[in-house]
Amino acid sequence: MTTLATTPSLSGQEIVDLTKKHTLFEWSAQSKVDPIPVARAKGIYFWTPEGKRFIDFNSQLMSVNIGHGDERVIRAIHEQAQTLAYANPFMATEPRARLGAKLAQITPGDIDTFFFTNGGAEANENAIKIARFFTGRHKIIARYRSYHGATAGSITLTGDPRRWAAEPGIPGVVHVLDPYHGIERGWESAAQSLVMLEEVIQLEGPQTIAAFMLETVTGTNGVLVPPDGYLEGVRELCTRYGILMICDEVMSGFGRTGEWFAVNHWHVVPDMLTMAKGLTSAYVPLGALGMRRGLADLFQDRVFYGGLTYNSHPLACAAALATIRVYEEDNLIARARSLGAVMKQLLSDLQQRHPSVGEARSIGLFGMVELIRNRATRQPMAPFNGTSDEMAALSRFFRDEGLYTLVRWNSFYTNPPLCITEEELREAFAIVDRGLEITDRAVVT
Ligand SMILES: Cc1ncc(COP(=O)(O)O)c(C=O)c1O
Repeated sequence: MTTLATTPSLSGQEIVDLTKKHTLFEWSAQSKVDPIPVARAKGIYFWTPEGKRFIDFNSQLMSVNIGHGDERVIRAIHEQAQTLAYANPFMATEPRARLGAKLAQITPGDIDTFFFTNGGAEANENAIKIARFFTGRHKIIARYRSYHGATAGSITLTGDPRRWAAEPGIPGVVHVLDPYHGIERGWESAAQSLVMLEEVIQLEGPQTIAAFMLETVTGTNGVLVPPDGYLEGVRELCTRYGILMICDEVMSGFGRTGEWFAVNHWHVVPDMLTMAKGLTSAYVPLGALGMRRGLADLFQDRVFYGGLTYNSHPLACAAALATIRVYEEDNLIARARSLGAVMKQLLSDLQQRHPSVGEARSIGLFGMVELIRNRATRQPMAPFNGTSDEMAALSRFFRDEGLYTLVRWNSFYTNPPLCITEEELREAFAIVDRGLEITDRAVVT
């Protein structure tokens, strides 16, 4: 009998070839993808089958927050698989019971009831449904510089170009501008942005708007940290007009920003909070939608119309509980805060040293750099939704040097696992520092 142990391993090239032949890569023309073959991972590193080491400077998809291969989570998954790998969602299991109670402790305010999903998009999908059901209104406001997932409703709320191919999408979605207007125009104040938001609410008719969904700190669209007063103002407007505030913390949750949830920086309690990624650090898929007590009470006597075969999957709930324990035992939230201060300084140094760095933003260990080719006009190094030779060369340099991160349009990300040491962080930034010489050469001053 051929077992996994006796099957000869595939080479990196064989893995890539077979993967490309029989599977689809997301958001890409298949002939253009050039995946890194990955065989194993530990801490902040992963390795190809041939042993090339990469620093995982994006925590894969801003998700492996505790780092790779943590034995405590692996053990919890193993033990749960041995005891009860699956029970259907009409059953009550111990990991589900404990995880609900634990999340009620760590989520803000009176959010204390959770619906578990397979990932972030489904959490947002259910938030849309509940908001409409609760308010009896149908419109949802979302922002242009956002990503909320790839399912029907979540991709319609998504503001970035990934939405375009899915249009017209679900009815009733209204997009608004963010306080940030791109590297050339920059930021407007919280007050200005809130005036625009209120105008849209009035023009759309507040009595037709069920919810405003927003990423607390916008992720793939630029690590956009809202100006102080913005989230508080959104909260106030939502309350005033009876609109539910839904914060998508799929990427910004679980320590990434130096708080359990990014809303804590501004002491704002949304009506619903969605999460995934860092919830299990992506060891197994799990998302969750958290809601305040007042919303959850609605379903005491009325039917909650929602379901998934893998809702509250015991393996995933056990993994989440173990992951949360790791954040606590290793003080990873405080660590993201203190190392976040170091990263802010390193980003600022890059900005001082490299003319191609137009802006560097971060909060906790959530960071990104936007590159420009003209210091006077601030023309980005690649156009909106596009790339350029310089960005492609930078991406190639990072890969050759064993630094994995997401390079998108005119920017790249600095989102290491929260377990990274200061020394490792400096090692990664030293590679970035050398790579930026490539983009510096294209700058017109
Ligand atoms: C802010 C945000 N919301 C939602 C999602 C979708 O989550 P998933 O891919 O788990 O469906 C993502 C994924 O990157 C995200 O970053």
